[in-house]
Amino acid sequence: MADTILVTGGAGYVGSHVVVELAKAGYAPVVLDNFANSTPAVLPRLQALAGRPIPSVTADVRDAAALRAVFHDHPIAAVVHCAGLKAVGESQERPLAYYDVNVGGAIALAEVMGEAGVATLVFSSSATVYGQPDHLPVPEDAPLRPHSVYGRTKRVVEDFLRDLAKANDNWRIAILRYFNPAGAHSSGMLGEASRGKPANLVPLLCKIAAGELAELAIYGGDWPTADGTGVRDYLHVQDLAEGHVAAMRYLAKAHGAHTLNLGAGRGHSVMEVVAAFEKACGRTIAKAVAPRRPGDVAAYYADPARAAKLLEWRASRDLQVICADAWRWQRNGGRY
Ligand code: WQD
Repeated sequence: MADTILVTGGAGYVGSHVVVELAKAGYAPVVLDNFANSTPAVLPRLQALAGRPIPSVTADVRDAAALRAVFHDHPIAAVVHCAGLKAVGESQERPLAYYDVNVGGAIALAEVMGEAGVATLVFSSSATVYGQPDHLPVPEDAPLRPHSVYGRTKRVVEDFLRDLAKANDNWRIAILRYFNPAGAHSSGMLGEASRGKPANLVPLLCKIAAGELAELAIYGGDWPTADGTGVRDYLHVQDLAEGHVAAMRYLAKAHGAHTLNLGAGRGHSVMEVVAAFEKACGRTIAKAVAPRRPGDVAAYYADPARAAKLLEWRASRDLQVICADAWRWQRNGGRY
């Protein structure tokens, strides 16, 4: 009997890819989502790609009663917690919402897991907890100096989860610090479908190449980087999803809380991403240098050695594959 895994936010960009990879690995995922930043239209595609029924529950992760019902109705063995608010800029304007959803949701989930005797949890954290690192690449033991409300909510939840594991050694927790998730499922059936104008670079390039947006504003051309534009660690979303499966497998034999960078371990500048994307789509991206974006940092990319050692996981898809898969998703409409 396949282990049932609850994936909160399972209809979202990362969560949907995690659901498919969990099913491919022989698990039985169940989706919980309030569809605040996703759509039920993704669910039939998940079932098609997973090759199995994917039960889904419409609920808010802060709703303990709804969570209890899910644990009553399904033999949940473990949880992947992806549900949350994740826009850095928005988080500065809506701190109450971000702490309520990201921190309150994690607390409600952990409480119900404890009641149900479920102690295995993979948590979606973020490399934004590092702020601007002193040294690159960034190891997990680098100081945590998040620049944004969003990053601070992730740090609070990380601390909460580490404290849980210290208080009760039944807990098996993987805290995954995502660098920059990007790209789309190679089938062209899943991808980033944010409501409104995308905030992130790669989905913006998709919309510009498709003629839906005019030009790219490059936030700063005078950063202390090789070409003056911001450097990030772009990680293919399928590599990221495979990292969640590797973490779930690791927790089957490891107690306690384990913090892991999920990144490719290499940095690319905005200009390098634009060049790779133009190669993938065969079109020229209109662009202009603009002032720096508040909250941005110059450069960060992961030291992924711990994930390689503990999870036997490494990113296998490079920037060109990310751009090609993102463009395929856009050409298929880029929405559900
Ligand atoms: C990438 C680079 C920008 C848009 C985001 C989220 C963060 C995390 C990772 C979840 C930067 C530049 C961007 C534009 C630009 N997600 N850029 N013009 O900010 O590194 O992090 O993904 O955990 O929450 O904020 O990603 O894609 O916004 O920016 O020049 O119109 O592209 O300055 O250097 P970011 P991003």
